[in-house]
Amino acid sequence: MLKAVILIGGPQKGTRFRPLSLDLPKPLFPVAGLPMLQHHIEACAAVPDIREILLLGYFPAQQLQQFVSDMIAEYKIRIRYLQEYHALGTAGGIYHFRDQISFGNPDAFFVLNGDVCGDFPLQQMLKFHTGLATPSLITIMGTEATRQQSTMYGCIAEDKETHQILHYVEKPSTFVSTLINCGVYICSPGIFKTVKEIFNSRQDFQNSCDEREASESIQLEQDILMPIAGTGQAYVYTTDRWWSQIKTAGSAIYANRHYLQLYLRTHPARLTDNAPGKPKIIGDVYIHPSATVDSSAVLGPNVSVGKNAVIGAGVRIRESIVLGNSTIKEHSCVLYTVVGWNSTVGAWSRLEGTPCDPNPNKPFAKMDNVPLFNSEGKLNPSITILGCNVTVPAEVIVLNSIVLPYKDLPHSYKNEIIL
Ligand code: GDD
Ligand code: GTP
Repeated sequence: MLKAVILIGGPQKGTRFRPLSLDLPKPLFPVAGLPMLQHHIEACAAVPDIREILLLGYFPAQQLQQFVSDMIAEYKIRIRYLQEYHALGTAGGIYHFRDQISFGNPDAFFVLNGDVCGDFPLQQMLKFHTGLATPSLITIMGTEATRQQSTMYGCIAEDKETHQILHYVEKPSTFVSTLINCGVYICSPGIFKTVKEIFNSRQDFQNSCDEREASESIQLEQDILMPIAGTGQAYVYTTDRWWSQIKTAGSAIYANRHYLQLYLRTHPARLTDNAPGKPKIIGDVYIHPSATVDSSAVLGPNVSVGKNAVIGAGVRIRESIVLGNSTIKEHSCVLYTVVGWNSTVGAWSRLEGTPCDPNPNKPFAKMDNVPLFNSEGKLNPSITILGCNVTVPAEVIVLNSIVLPYKDLPHSYKNEIIL
């Protein structure tokens, strides 16, 4: 029997995802029509031996309640949200809830960061983990990155033959390796002993300097992986499938495109087809069954339209996420934009952002999670984001801008944060 643990963080996390994470926890933000976390749950539920999924985070429990019940109903698997009383770090929660994770004696458990997305080869990874000649305490999913981008991730040096991890450095200041940590792991139950030793050494530290919070937070990367590397107990399973982090709203557009593409293979029924009397669909498009889209609208490629959204005549949407209950009126154009919940875009308006896709000419390039402002204090061009309940009047242009919730825009904007 196996279990899965998904690390979802808490309200102080996901700051780069604002203003979209102001209204709901970032892990519940819909990508390709489904909450980000549902893609993890779906991947875990497809592994036959996984009997229980534990979501670990420090969001108030009521924010996850409905989602958890929906997921149990949909995937018929045990799912629970375990709330940390404050941020315990990426391994602190695993230690704190060790009894719940170990209950029923699972042979191993997956750990997934909630803010990554991808076509996760969980079964292949499990086969690798269980087939190792010497047992692995922890197996990390790794992928190739560019030399320059690798330092923004955990970097792994492996023995090319055995795939043992020789050396691990979390976000090194200089180049270590192009093999990076995907934030997906398989742990053997023996890992708890290692975490306990670390916890105990932290307790000693606490007694000496009384820094309670610092001592309770344990980082899987720095506190576990770094010391375990080179001891012959940690392995890396490398994947060349699509994988990315979701840190910024721009990366949600990128993830949206890839999850839609994945549906072609896994859930083709989720994609919208062209049909007489229906809107024109280009490429991969998800439209929630409750949304109303005028037959003269043109959508795609890579568009998701949420619950009860209304898309008027002649509207053109491409590479965008239109969230629930929003209205896009006649002949408006929406490109590289996230339209927040309950927002309204007037007729003949244009919302446009700048894609922040990985460089297609560089093999293994990932998305650059560029900061909001450049060194001169100017907004870096990025996708356009409308927070929830925003009203855009007719015949205006909003270009590369971020609009905070509940704004009525008086006119056009370019490269601005509208507070
Ligand atoms: N439950 C819980 N409690 N979850 C947490 C906590 C915590 O205190 N802190 C972080 N997390 C969750 C986050 O929500 C996220 O899903 C994941 O743990 C990792 O978060 P970060 O601490 O922000 O790390 P990172 O994303 O910068 O880097 C990690 O992921 C990279 C891959 O995306 C590292 O593991 C890197 O080595 C790795 O390359
Ligand atoms: P490529 O990016 O090279 O394909 O050029 P493009 O001009 O086709 O793309 P652009 O990103 O400018 O526009 C994407 C789609 O939106 C195009 O198919 C246009 O037909 C459509 N489009 C562009 N501007 C408007 C507009 O103001 N209103 C409407 N309704 N559609 C528009």
